[in-house]
Amino acid sequence: MTWEPSGEGGQPSAPSADGDPDADYGTVSRVRGAVRRRLGLAVTRLRHQRVTFGRRCDVRSGARFAVARGAEVRFGPGCVLDHGFTLESSGRLLVGDRTVFGHHCTLASDRSIVIGTNCLFGEFTSIRDHDHAFDGSATAILDQGRATAPVTIGDDVWVGAKATITRGVTIGSGTVVGAHAVVTRDLPAGCVAVGVPARVVRMRDGGPVPD
Ligand SMILES: CC(C)(COP(=O)(O)OP(=O)(O)OC[C@H]1O[C@@H](n2cnc3c(N)ncnc32)[C@H](O)[C@@H]1OP(=O)(O)O)[C@@H](O)C(=O)NCCC(=O)NCCS
Repeated sequence: MTWEPSGEGGQPSAPSADGDPDADYGTVSRVRGAVRRRLGLAVTRLRHQRVTFGRRCDVRSGARFAVARGAEVRFGPGCVLDHGFTLESSGRLLVGDRTVFGHHCTLASDRSIVIGTNCLFGEFTSIRDHDHAFDGSATAILDQGRATAPVTIGDDVWVGAKATITRGVTIGSGTVVGAHAVVTRDLPAGCVAVGVPARVVRMRDGGPVPD
């Protein structure tokens, strides 16, 4: 059988018995994709044994995991970690089912980052539960250690590209954070927040913006 480009991104397609090329194209590429993801996940699990990945997690190339002994790092089933995903953890880092990280997202947890289910994080988003301590100038910031506070993000949260979520922040379920926002304070559930620092501009249900 001759394989020819289908015209969809140069993917191969084979003519089907009933003459519908798309039918076989869909089946073949779905099966191939599923096999590739399964093998990829098996290799990822072997390479990163301090991380627990649920079923059907899709961890793409260039993902980097630096996990200290004793840290707890878990991804629920169906999570997607796109290219260049970076994770550092010496504490707890829990991610719920079907949460998706765009390429080059960074998660860094000294103490605790907990993220819910069905969340979407745009590319280059950074989430950290710590800052460098910088009290006084007698000691270099480099030597002052870290100030940490847990980060909690609810379910069904969408964070736009290149947003930064800083230590101690809680974001309620169903909230949307605009691209490039820096979230320094808690955000309630169901709001749209944008800017630096992120401020609530409206509620998704049209209700009044809380003070
Ligand atoms: C926040 C967003 C979802 C729009 O939400 P919205 O409720 O429709 O907001 P609006 O477009 O009505 O804008 C409301 C106000 O916020 C401002 N605003 C919207 N997005 C903003 C952003 N990312 N940063 C700063 N201000 C923003 C608007 O200019 C507007 O201000 P104004 O009232 O002074 O005119 C969208 O702008 C955004 O940032 N999307 C993320 C896109 C992205 O990163 N995609 C890739 C990752 S999946």
